[in-house]
Amino acid sequence: MAGGGIAPHGGRLVNRMASPDEHESLLSEAQGLKRVQCKARELGDLTKIAIGAYSPLEGFMTQADYERVVEEKRLNSGLVWTIPITLAAGREDVRGIGPGERVALVDAEQNLRGVMDIHDIYAYDKEREASCVYLTTDQEHPGVRALFERGELLLGGSVTVFNQSGPHPYAPYYLKPEQTRATFQKRGWRRIVGFQTRNPLHRAHEYILKCAMEITDGLFLSPLVGETKPGDIPASVRMQCYEAMLRSYFPAQRVVLGVIDVTMRYAGPREAVFHALIRQNFGCTHFIVGRDHAGVGQFYGPFDAHRLFEEIGEREIGIQPLFFDGSFYCRRCLAIVTARTCPHKETEHRRLSGTEVRELLARGEQPPEELMRPEVAEILLEAYRDGTWQTPQGGRPAKDQTTTKQR
Ligand code: ADX
Repeated sequence: MAGGGIAPHGGRLVNRMASPDEHESLLSEAQGLKRVQCKARELGDLTKIAIGAYSPLEGFMTQADYERVVEEKRLNSGLVWTIPITLAAGREDVRGIGPGERVALVDAEQNLRGVMDIHDIYAYDKEREASCVYLTTDQEHPGVRALFERGELLLGGSVTVFNQSGPHPYAPYYLKPEQTRATFQKRGWRRIVGFQTRNPLHRAHEYILKCAMEITDGLFLSPLVGETKPGDIPASVRMQCYEAMLRSYFPAQRVVLGVIDVTMRYAGPREAVFHALIRQNFGCTHFIVGRDHAGVGQFYGPFDAHRLFEEIGEREIGIQPLFFDGSFYCRRCLAIVTARTCPHKETEHRRLSGTEVRELLARGEQPPEELMRPEVAEILLEAYRDGTWQTPQGGRPAKDQTTTKQR
């Protein structure tokens, strides 16, 4: 048990940040090393490895770990792990680099971000990764498309990461697992529920959050602010929505807001388990898994993620999933409910699709108050008006991309 809270996955909180003592010498060593460039996804993963959010990972996956994760949802040690965490490169990029060598990891601007001790460099089968991890090879799937765009080799090995130079874009909310664990302990929380989201909070979210808060000591609201697919609401806009919701509808002393700047994979069930393990490392004892967690389009059944947690079993993962049915507004109940609690007909139920939200915003109208808090609607309206929320092509968000799970 780390600091009295739930044990991190694998039992120990990893720290792969360069220590103050080694920082300078490692930095000057790195200047002279061959360089491997990391993309945004890899930088997100790199820093999450460094701060222990991906414990027990100490680096990018070696072939032995990668193969077993893809095929069996386990690391080579046998510990459950569902998403490959890999560093990809083209053949040209790694020419002259071999196992046993230390390389510098740099970002697109050539800033030194860390070093990596190369254990192996290996080819991988993207089709197989797609069908095992994403359960489809269809390139309409944003995660699969991103996979097929990656380099054809993977580099495995442990990393040591330099302190980020500038402040994090969401600085007050960028917390390390050791910080959240200390906060939970200071507040005397023993049962902490983690919530992953890539959307502004609507009333259906609020309902499941508050149900979970009734049976736990505190909420770790943990929005994903890494890369998401075009048309998803930008993290900068969503952060304003989270702040507005917390200000007006949640007791401040029972919530901690902490972002996670990891790329969204949209890998449905496997990503739900990955999301849960990350929050366990941050010190959460419980994790909300609702309808179509981390899903996209029609690629996954709405409760496939629940089934994967059940299949893996309680003993293999420390954090406890809290499963939620699809929630919606019922005109007769005059409340947000689920099929478990509402006896009324479907015709009484009101769900809000992402398309509908966009159509309303395009007309300058707010979504109905029973489905979205006006404070949130106002922020989205403003983002829509001033063009902050757009597709990369500069257009309005595409119709097929839902912002909510109320399908
Ligand atoms: S995501 O990471 O799962 O894509 P999203 O913001 O869409 O993020 O959902 C966050 C969490 O809320 C997930 O566990 C999801 O299953 C759950 N959720 C979202 N909408 C609903 C809903 N209407 N009913 C039940 N669960 C929901």
